[in-house]
Amino acid sequence: MPTQKFSSTKIEVLRELIDSQGDTVSGGRLCRALGLSRQSVWKAVRSLQEDGYRIGSIPVKGYRFQGAPDNDLDPSWIEILLSDCPWGHPVLYWEKLDSTQIPAKDLARRGALEGVVILANCQTSGRGRLGRTWISPPEGGIYFSVIIRPSVKPDQIQTLSLVSAIAVQDAILSRCGVRCQLKWPNDILWKDSKVCGILSEVSSEPGMVHYAVTGIGINANMAVKPMGLEGSATSLASIVGRKIHRGEVVASVIRQFHQWVVRMETGSGVKEIISEYASRCDTIGKMVRVVLDEGEITGRACGIDERGNLLVDAGGEMRSFSAADITHLRTIS
Ligand code: BTN
Repeated sequence: MPTQKFSSTKIEVLRELIDSQGDTVSGGRLCRALGLSRQSVWKAVRSLQEDGYRIGSIPVKGYRFQGAPDNDLDPSWIEILLSDCPWGHPVLYWEKLDSTQIPAKDLARRGALEGVVILANCQTSGRGRLGRTWISPPEGGIYFSVIIRPSVKPDQIQTLSLVSAIAVQDAILSRCGVRCQLKWPNDILWKDSKVCGILSEVSSEPGMVHYAVTGIGINANMAVKPMGLEGSATSLASIVGRKIHRGEVVASVIRQFHQWVVRMETGSGVKEIISEYASRCDTIGKMVRVVLDEGEITGRACGIDERGNLLVDAGGEMRSFSAADITHLRTIS
């Protein structure tokens, strides 16, 4: 595995420096506040400087925070943005990965805590739903996976897909000021072009979900449609006409995702999420063509059932489809 960049000491030192709002903080004060040796503080500052943080070392006086790195995916910065959120600790960052899903599932299998995030600047074998490819060039996109240990029954797990889509929709609204559409189960669209795709992979046994790994790919600053994406695609930068700070979007999605998962896990949470999702889902009310292994069905999407399945009125016969049943879902009006 490539070397990871996370260090909790680094985050603590960085937080202290940022919190001092431009004042110089002595090495001694950092040591006392964080219970660290001078050597550890010095090493953390050096490592932050190597990551691109502008931290002044003033002889005798101490250290002063002067600015964040140019890398808008810097994992320490994302963790700082998530200081008050239980998820996103750590954010493990790689410049290049085959797929963020792979180390995420490996870590989940080995017992990693809920909320650990695997983030990459590019992927060489990004995966989409139904075995498709998710082309993941550097700089333009956002590619990350979150480990979740949801307290829901296996037959309710599809709700997690709906929750992730709601979270991304809310995060894009809060960071970019635009409300994207939700295409069941978890595509995020802007004027019928895809902005974000989500892949949730679950490990469960009868009666129990062990973990889920939810991978989120967002077209952030791509000017051109990456090859390999299904249908037409757009990016946040194209929608709002300015470059997007990817780390801020990642932090916002993680924050929203955590809040919605907590809601899903409370008493009648699953039911509430499904009704919330149904009220936001742009697929409902539209004519759809559902492509299954055994053929095609055309009808009007008319709701979401208690398992998160799509209900389709096919000429008077009500059919229910899980995301796993469907090869393609096309809206035709
Ligand atoms: C889809 O719409 O088909 C889902 C695409 C999911 C892409 C993301 S990018 C981060 C994570 N790693 C992957 O390999 N896939 C998901």
